[in-house]
This record gives sequence, structure tokens and C-alpha cells, in this order.
Amino acid sequence: MKQLYSNYNAADFLVWKTLFERQEKNLKDKACSLYLKSLKEMSSVLHADAIPKFEELNQFLAPRTGWEIEVVPGLIPVDEFFALMAERKFCSSTWLRSMKQLDYLEEPDMFHDIFGHVPLLVDKGYADLMQRIGKLGVQFKHDALIIEGLERFYWFTIEFGLILESDKRNIYGAGIISSFGESKHIFESTIQCDAFDIDQILETDFDKSSIQQRYYEISSMEEMQRGLDRLEEIAKGRNRIKKAS
Ligand SMILES: [Fe+2]
Repeated sequence: MKQLYSNYNAADFLVWKTLFERQEKNLKDKACSLYLKSLKEMSSVLHADAIPKFEELNQFLAPRTGWEIEVVPGLIPVDEFFALMAERKFCSSTWLRSMKQLDYLEEPDMFHDIFGHVPLLVDKGYADLMQRIGKLGVQFKHDALIIEGLERFYWFTIEFGLILESDKRNIYGAGIISSFGESKHIFESTIQCDAFDIDQILETDFDKSSIQQRYYEISSMEEMQRGLDRLEEIAKGRNRIKKAS
């Protein structure tokens, strides 16, 4: 599938501009430093004035981390999603919400996929971590419990993760980064936010349909790596038990 750029009309461009400008301003004191730095770095190919061209985003990412955007029709099965991530391919829709849906979506659109996720893929450490999630998903695709654990890890970090930077809570999860309402909610309401704990995350279910009831905060990006180390260790342990029985 390809992005058919000529299909976007003036209303789409206006929606993109409205979302981008509002959220860029809103995130100035809320997003993590790496996201803000990466968004700035990408400003020639990712900005408010035009819907981004995936080809240009790919050209930008190629020499930096080698990630590319894979156009998908919408949500795809998790095994396909992880398999693409293992090849450094990030799934994105090409459709955009309407002006009436600015703050409510049942499924992620390209504003979520691109504005929320893509800037952090400029960073080598983050880009490698994303590929590692995909590779673990491929390696343990026949172990439903581990796949569920990986989905929970992904949800509470890549989608809805918070990070403590110089004693200040900031956002790095794409689900919050791309949501005007949820990014304000984090700072204007009392939220339940626990210190990152991989064992707890593996036991915690999530709800896709509403604002999150609970968040996890990392103290550094390396903490996510250690979380994946632990998840891999558990997965390998389960494999050994299966082989022995
Ligand atoms: Fe997402």
C-alpha cells in the first residue's frame, strides 16, 4: 500500500495544521526532551503547513536509523505488527480524522501514527529498542503469554509512557503525545502513576477505549531496555520449561 497524496483535500490539510499547531504548542512544557529535539530536527519534513509525505519521512529516517513507514489500512494483527517492527518498519494509516473528530478517535489515524510515533524513531537508542520489541515478538510468537506481556509493555511505554527528567514528569508515549485531551489530563488531574516495574506491567491489563486509569514512569530510556531484558529472560525460561516437559 502507498500513501496517495493527491487524495488529501483542503479540509484534510486544515485538520492536520490545526492538530499540529495546537499540539506543538501544548507539548512545549509537557513532552520529553528527546521528543521535542527530534520534532525540531524533523521540521523540514514534518510541520504544520502540509500533511507529511511518507516518502520524505523515509528519506529523512534512512540515513539516521533506517526506519521506514509501512502503510497499513488500520489496525493489523499483532504478529504482523511485530514482524514489521523487527524489520524496522513502522505501521501507519494514511487517513486523517475530520474536524468534528479532533479529540475523539476509535482507531489511530495518521496524526497519531506520524506525529506521535515517528519523531522518536530519529533517535538511535529508541529506534533500536523498537526493533528489539519486534524481534522478541517474532521470536516468541507462539507463546501467547509472552506476546500479551509484550503488548502490555508496548502499551505502558511506547504508547502511554511517562518519563522523569530533572525531577519533572514528561510524556514520551505516542498515545499521549498525539492527544490534546490526555496530555492536559496528565498535568491537570490527579493521576495514578507508578514507578516503572516490568513485573507489575506484565500483570496489568489495559483499556483501549478510554483515557488511561494508570501510567508508569521511567527514570531513563535505559530502564525500558532493562524491562525488555527481564521480559526476554522470562520468555526464555518458559521456553526451557516447555522443551523439558
Ligand atoms: Fe500508536
